[in-house]
Amino acid sequence: MSQNNIRIAVMVSGGGTNLQALIDAQKTGTLHSGTIALVLSDKKDAYALTRAKDAGIPAAVVAKADYGSQARICALLEEYRIGLIVLAGFLRILSADFTSRFDHRIINIHPSLIPAFCGAGFYGLHVHEAALRRGVRITGATVHYVNEITDGGEIILQKAVRVAPNDTPQTLQKRVMRLAEWKI
Ligand code: GRF
Repeated sequence: MSQNNIRIAVMVSGGGTNLQALIDAQKTGTLHSGTIALVLSDKKDAYALTRAKDAGIPAAVVAKADYGSQARICALLEEYRIGLIVLAGFLRILSADFTSRFDHRIINIHPSLIPAFCGAGFYGLHVHEAALRRGVRITGATVHYVNEITDGGEIILQKAVRVAPNDTPQTLQKRVMRLAEWKI
């Protein structure tokens, strides 16, 4: 299979606005690198699943608590002949076994400029709370490869976003999503 035809699985846990950005990019022809072939969620009520359904993309739920869930994920990835895994708000740490099996074939989007505000505990609004607490004037988002270290894999792309003087974690989160995450 050519690089341009790679089958992509997007793994999600929540609202799925980043998934939506990828679906929209696919619709408008700006996603040149492959095709979204599967959406995988670890939460059965994730709104991202509705987005997948509306876009006609096959979706599956593999709950975190299920025994052998990682083996089930691997089986699905094989069944759908997935070549690239995109973590888009997937709130679960993958085992070192899993990340080494898919070496340089898993990418993640993180809502800060790594190495700032990343690693264990830095997810969702916590990232933006920490950025505001530290008083940074510039934050942003990072796309990186996923290895066994949380948010520690090689950086692929970053985009900076200005912090406004009156920002709350919520307003900052929205701006980082709109100006950086959904673009990169
Ligand atoms: C985003 O902020 C992303 O950077 C992080 O999790 C959040 C997911 O949001 N990894 P959504 O589900 O894509 O709306």
